[in-house]
Amino acid sequence: MSNVLNDSSVNDSSVNGNIIFIGFMGSGKTTLGRKIAKHFGRLFLDTDLLIESRENMEILDIFKQHGEKYFRNLEREISELIQNSIRNSIIAVGGGFPTAVSSLQKLGFVIYLDIDFDFMISEVKKHPAELEKRPLLENLDEAKKIYDFRKKIYKSQADKIFTINHNNYETVVDEVINFLKNIKEFE
Ligand code: S3P
Repeated sequence: MSNVLNDSSVNDSSVNGNIIFIGFMGSGKTTLGRKIAKHFGRLFLDTDLLIESRENMEILDIFKQHGEKYFRNLEREISELIQNSIRNSIIAVGGGFPTAVSSLQKLGFVIYLDIDFDFMISEVKKHPAELEKRPLLENLDEAKKIYDFRKKIYKSQADKIFTINHNNYETVVDEVINFLKNIKEFE
């Protein structure tokens, strides 16, 4: 099968060996990223967690006390840190990160987890704590507008897209692993 897996551009894009997971809140970037990192014996980083430890504050409180603009500036700072210092790692970035940082491919090979909105909401609702810690999911009509707006940004930033729905939710991790196995550095 001739496909992007054997395309040399895959290697070119991941010059620093990082894999960056992007996608809307609740698309599984962190869960999936952790599994992928464990599978390949790589370091896993999550930009939300890096920001929380840098600020010694939870995301929700950062939004409440300082506002979204402040948070986006932190995301840009973290982006520079990744670009300058992080290599060969699996990195999940917050859902709005690709709107704050315009050239994600400088950070690594970008994988977009494209999850269906209604399916995502039904999954997140199963874990109320997950819903509560995401200020931008408080109003679902607004969240849908953000989702629709961001979709094209995610697509334009992605090197590879995996579509997630109820049919492959359990198996997408295997799909990603198989994809990455075909990237030279991950053999
Ligand atoms: C946000 C997504 C969150 C977190 C913050 C803002 C967004 O990360 O960065 O609540 O703007 O979509 P997750 O995508 O990991 O939920």
